Amino acid sequence: MSGAGATKKKYLICVAWPYANGPQHIGHIAGAYLPPDIFARFQRMRGSDVLMVSGSDTHGTPVTIQAEKEGVTPAQIVERYHNLFIESYQKIGLTFDYFTHTGTESHARVVHEYFKDMLAKGYIYEDTSKQLFDTKAQRFLPDRYIEGECPLCGYKEARGDQCDQCGKTYDAVELKHPVSKMTGSRDLEVRETKHFYVDLGKLNEPLLAWISDGKQHWRKHVLNFAKGMLEKRELRGTAITRDLEWGVTIPLPGYETKRIYVWFEAVMGYLSATVEWAEASGKPEAWRDWWDSNTAGDVKSYYFIGKDNITFHTIHWPGYLIAKGGLNLPYDVPANEYLNSYGRKFSKSRGTSITVSDVLQRYQKDAWRYVLTALAPETGDVDFSWDDFLEKVNNELVANWGNLANRMLGFAFKRFDGRIPAPATELEADDQALLAEVKAGFQVVGDLYEGVKLRSALEEARRLSQRVNQYLSDRAPWTVIKTDPNRAATTVYVALQCIAWLKTMWAPILPDSSQLIHEALGFDGQLFGESYTEQRAEAGGSKHQVLRYDHKQAVGVWEASALPVGQTMRPPVAPFTKLDAAIVELEGAGAG
Ligand code: MF3
Ligand code: ZN
Repeated sequence: MSGAGATKKKYLICVAWPYANGPQHIGHIAGAYLPPDIFARFQRMRGSDVLMVSGSDTHGTPVTIQAEKEGVTPAQIVERYHNLFIESYQKIGLTFDYFTHTGTESHARVVHEYFKDMLAKGYIYEDTSKQLFDTKAQRFLPDRYIEGECPLCGYKEARGDQCDQCGKTYDAVELKHPVSKMTGSRDLEVRETKHFYVDLGKLNEPLLAWISDGKQHWRKHVLNFAKGMLEKRELRGTAITRDLEWGVTIPLPGYETKRIYVWFEAVMGYLSATVEWAEASGKPEAWRDWWDSNTAGDVKSYYFIGKDNITFHTIHWPGYLIAKGGLNLPYDVPANEYLNSYGRKFSKSRGTSITVSDVLQRYQKDAWRYVLTALAPETGDVDFSWDDFLEKVNNELVANWGNLANRMLGFAFKRFDGRIPAPATELEADDQALLAEVKAGFQVVGDLYEGVKLRSALEEARRLSQRVNQYLSDRAPWTVIKTDPNRAATTVYVALQCIAWLKTMWAPILPDSSQLIHEALGFDGQLFGESYTEQRAEAGGSKHQVLRYDHKQAVGVWEASALPVGQTMRPPVAPFTKLDAAIVELEGAGAG
């Protein structure tokens, strides 16, 4: 048997880096932000070692375009949205061990070293390429400043580097009928310019071997997408520098007016954020415990992303990792599809945006976490509507788990002197069956969390909660107490024990309400850690805000411990608020 502690399982949880060019809406949260948090909370309760990292993606044309639109600097845009992300994540309770951004010195340093290493190993080469030159603006156009028809599927509004319809990437010069988004000009010339390229073709076979080793249990749509690309052997050299002034510099003379392409450096943020976390924690070498395949090869790295990021996380980034060598490859890439709004993509410009900071003013954090998990687009696109939100909060969350916790904790507190009653009669078959079934949830629900089947984990926790409700309806302790108080005590004990277990099973999804129930049952301490922000100073004098969670004092444990008889309870507080049906019309008006 392996001793506890020494063999702690380790999970590096990497979360897609949000572009700091606008607020995040609930579609983003449901797709790539809440799932890793639920997974991380579950793993920490299970006693695993977890490091969850991410940060704002501060570069690329999404940021410069927004800055130009507003007439401010890219740095101003970045600061505004980076701080807004941190505020939003605290509100919805995302327990990042480290959330930074890509404008830091440590990021630039890691990217520079990585770049030079790949150059020395022959995975990066210099070449001249043909690029679209806007004669009106007198400059080469970065990808996002070009729109045209997709050369692969014919989609009319394809972006310069990637098609939103078919998800494929290509060179902007391959677009049909390109138009400059900078000037609106169609007068675009193909001209030669010097750039660096990553030789993805060289990585095709190693990637295919890695992805076909039979160990991949990835979601079907993710694996098929990546495998399909590799089997077609369509990988080739891809430019990784751009004619831009905003971004990570190129660590070689003669390239002062160019920058590293955002997608090449943003994925390296997973590594640089770990390096920065290690430095900020006073253990600069600790990043190796999460990345070094020689000494930390048993770490499982998960990448939580939206489906538009699949190519970059299943092909490009693993390719760079293979090229560098000695670093852990992704263990899983749980990519989600989209949560849409009334049949359309959430988008600010179309007025269908439901931003996180906004909706959390009006509704409980756990209500959102519940609904966004119940609607998780794990296997296909899902539509969000306020009718669904109302229905799920009132008829599922409040009526089922909320009602169970509410009525039982209130009844026990009032009728048993504020203490957990001892079972005063023999346990009968139904008592034992219920206890066994709920207890088994630690295995069943646990396996679902472990497999990142979060929607199914929620459904199973809900089914178990409903079983306890059914048991209480059958046993009716509120009536029985008048004639047989001993039997009522047994029923209440059994139900409270089940509630104590269920609050643990619900906790990764519903941390606030589980905490309330934990306290009402008379337990002490915080199930999870506390969040805080930190000002990180850079050598050059600049500062940036990072979000961190401190889990040192957390008491949440994934185990079926016995509820102590006689434990002093606390006056229960209703964990959830029932919603007024009027919200559908109120909110719907803004979302249509
Ligand atoms: N900012 C990009 C997006 O949101 C990429 C995020 S993942 C990264 O789509 F690792 F590449 F940063
Ligand atoms: Zn296409």
